[in-house]
Amino acid sequence: MKLGFYVNGLPVTVDTPPLRSLLSILREDLGLTGTKEGCGEGECGACAVHLEGELVKSCMVPAFQLSGRSVVTIEGISAQGPTGLQDAFLQEGAVQCGFCTPGFVMASEYLLRNDPAPNEEAIRKGLAGNLCRCTGYGSLLRGVQRAVAEGYTPRNFPPLSGEPFPEDSEMSRKSLEEEGIFLPRTLEEALKILETHGEDVLSVAGGTDILPDMVKGVRKTPRKVMNLRGLAELEKLEYQEESGALEIGAGVTFARIREHSLGARHLPALREMAAGVGAVAIQNMATLGGNLMTASAAGDAAPLLLALEGEAVFVSSRGERVVPMEDLYRGYRKTARQPSELLLKVRIPSRVFGSSQKFFKVGTRKALTISRLSLGCSVIEKAPGIFSRVRIGIGSVTPCPMLLPRASELLENRHLSMEYVKEAAALLARDVVPRKDTAYRQEMIRNLICRFFAELLEKRVVQS
Ligand SMILES: Cc1cc2nc3c(=O)[nH]c(=O)nc-3n(C[C@H](O)[C@H](O)[C@H](O)COP(=O)(O)OP(=O)(O)OC[C@H]3O[C@@H](n4cnc5c(N)ncnc54)[C@H](O)[C@@H]3O)c2cc1C
Ligand code: FES
Ligand code: FES
Repeated sequence: MKLGFYVNGLPVTVDTPPLRSLLSILREDLGLTGTKEGCGEGECGACAVHLEGELVKSCMVPAFQLSGRSVVTIEGISAQGPTGLQDAFLQEGAVQCGFCTPGFVMASEYLLRNDPAPNEEAIRKGLAGNLCRCTGYGSLLRGVQRAVAEGYTPRNFPPLSGEPFPEDSEMSRKSLEEEGIFLPRTLEEALKILETHGEDVLSVAGGTDILPDMVKGVRKTPRKVMNLRGLAELEKLEYQEESGALEIGAGVTFARIREHSLGARHLPALREMAAGVGAVAIQNMATLGGNLMTASAAGDAAPLLLALEGEAVFVSSRGERVVPMEDLYRGYRKTARQPSELLLKVRIPSRVFGSSQKFFKVGTRKALTISRLSLGCSVIEKAPGIFSRVRIGIGSVTPCPMLLPRASELLENRHLSMEYVKEAAALLARDVVPRKDTAYRQEMIRNLICRFFAELLEKRVVQS
């Protein structure tokens, strides 16, 4: 496909397959080799660039989502020579082989643009999606701290120059469709395309599951692709009086969920979960809809949404269909979605706002890890030590996320002591049959349930 977009303020056009990565275009077609290729799967951050001002990993940005958009690379950042930030890195010994440096510079620039005086924790979070094999992370941390202390402020992005790209004409749209590339402008158009092409067309949102799967060879290059990015109907995030629920569009990124004010006030576990999906660049790209529809047993959103009484709303040309979260998964990597449907949004009802809630994620390391076990919990305290609406969702251990079936029967509407919770948690854990490491995982489930209730019951003791 022929594609026009801006790089470092200047218009460029390329002819490329639709799912080729931005990284390949930058390096191979445009000769911008400052952006590096490390893992090619979203893990190392060497390929970080800014897309429309957001930090993203260019190895996961598909070409067909670039039309008319603006990319800034390390060459754009340092167009006028090394920046104060780059000098600070050098002075702190944060550069050895230099392979990771462009990625760290792009991540640091993004961090400082959004938070000009970050504390240590914020710097660690801001750089968490980047790997360095040489320097050790202390010098990188000090590099950013030095730049801040010296009053470094990121330069403004170079302004776009040259003629704006013409709106895609109907003609070019038609010829792209003949190539199997669909760029709908509205949800209605997208649904018509699905109606006609069904399973043959692959819908791409953030691309953070699709592109790494193609690199790993787990997924073949599809013959037909459809872009979901930018469809306004999928990107709404608001409280709806009518449904009495927070409605999160399927195309909403985890970064937006993390920052949403309702999360801070009423849904702290939702916020915590979103803030733990990969690192900043992944959160800027990955969508809630993609997370649920990829139907990975290890996806973080589903266990919590099960606990928060979520509902998935599908849409097709025939209208909307509501599926409670507990009916969304039909087996390993299988969902209730019909081929002509898109996931439109997820609803979280206001009856769980302010519930006692928690998202636990256990992995092989503390942060940036694929869950080996995840647990979403939500309960409403009716009276001291007595709870209603006890819901516990679980992920990673069974072929698909599930709700613990007996949680409400065993834990609701009775006065809970820790002794009783321990017994009930052991029974609940035994209802789960993990695919492997059965005893270990059941023990973890039991421990996390106990930890959740221990915090609630202890809080009550402290309060009284
Ligand atoms: C480095 C890295 C770290 C990660 N860390 C985590 C993590 O900590 N926790 C976690 O849960 N995940 C993690 N992920 C996985 C991934 O980022 C998420 O699953 C992401 O939310 C997928 O969303 P997306 O928009 O990128 O989906 P895409 O890759 O665009 O699509 C994924 C699937 O969903 C389908 N789809 C997308 N939107 C819709 C829709 N509206 N209707 C119907 N089908 C749709 C697509 O057709 C495709 O089959 C990580 C990934 C990477 C690369
Ligand atoms: S090359 Fe490693 S994250 Fe893109
Ligand atoms: S300086 Fe060599 S990988 Fe970071």
